[in-house]
Amino acid sequence: MDMLQINNLVVEIDNRRILDGLTLHVGKGEVAAIMGPNGSGKSTLSYVIAGKEDYEVLDGEILLNGENILELEPDQRAAAGLFLAFQYPLEIPGVATMTFLKAALNAQRKARGEAELSTPDFIKRVNAAAAQLEVPKEMLKRGLNVGFSGGEKKRMEILQMALLQPSFCILDETDSGLDIDALQIVADGVNALRSPDRAFLVITHYQRLLNHIVPDTVHVLSNGKIVRTGGKELALELEASGYAEYRATAA
Ligand SMILES: Nc1ncnc2c1ncn2[C@@H]1O[C@H](COP(=O)(O)OP(=O)(O)O)[C@@H](O)[C@H]1O
Ligand SMILES: [Mg+2]
Repeated sequence: MDMLQINNLVVEIDNRRILDGLTLHVGKGEVAAIMGPNGSGKSTLSYVIAGKEDYEVLDGEILLNGENILELEPDQRAAAGLFLAFQYPLEIPGVATMTFLKAALNAQRKARGEAELSTPDFIKRVNAAAAQLEVPKEMLKRGLNVGFSGGEKKRMEILQMALLQPSFCILDETDSGLDIDALQIVADGVNALRSPDRAFLVITHYQRLLNHIVPDTVHVLSNGKIVRTGGKELALELEASGYAEYRATAA
């Protein structure tokens, strides 16, 4: 059974249809890339999977490990192993990053019926993840994402992912705002988390990221549907030919 099964998903926002019968399956251990023109609904798809409100799901289902998650609240989806790295990470002034990370980790452990981590255990884990992602310790004392550069925010998202060890990770345009060095650090962080028990949905407009996080499958999103599926070579083909063939057509 595929870890993520999206069947015939129809989604509207403000009475505008954004996803229109989208079907996508991602197997355990798989890294699937979604590519598509700007405005094709890539972020909408990631938000709907994560459970952000404002989106009206008119039809279809999203199954994670066989369970329909559309009925779950966002925090319940996270406890079920879902993680979304945002295209535009939120800033939370007044909450030290370290405090936020500990609360997030322990909330998930609690939801799964696991014991809270002791502070020394937590600090050990954060420091290891921060070192790997080259996140300075000083950053962990600042408010979450407050004053972080685009690249620092992206590294912080991957640090959260490394700590939470989700089973299904969605990365929405993780490459935007990253210079080549930061891109490599982020990609190394993601690649280190690749495992037969974990799957990824890597959303990107550009092929560049997929040189660093090499996907097993590539799907093209256009006009609210997956219109093409292939292997990693499909990303190269899109890079060469552009999205002209897949541009939104007037509804
Ligand atoms: N909150 C919103 N209200 C109205 N339209 C929206 C909203 N969010 C997204 N859209 C529209 O939905 C379409 C898909 O957007 P999005 O999912 O962000 O695309 P992508 O991530 O592929 O660039 C766009 O036309 C966008 O303008
Ligand atoms: Mg987007």
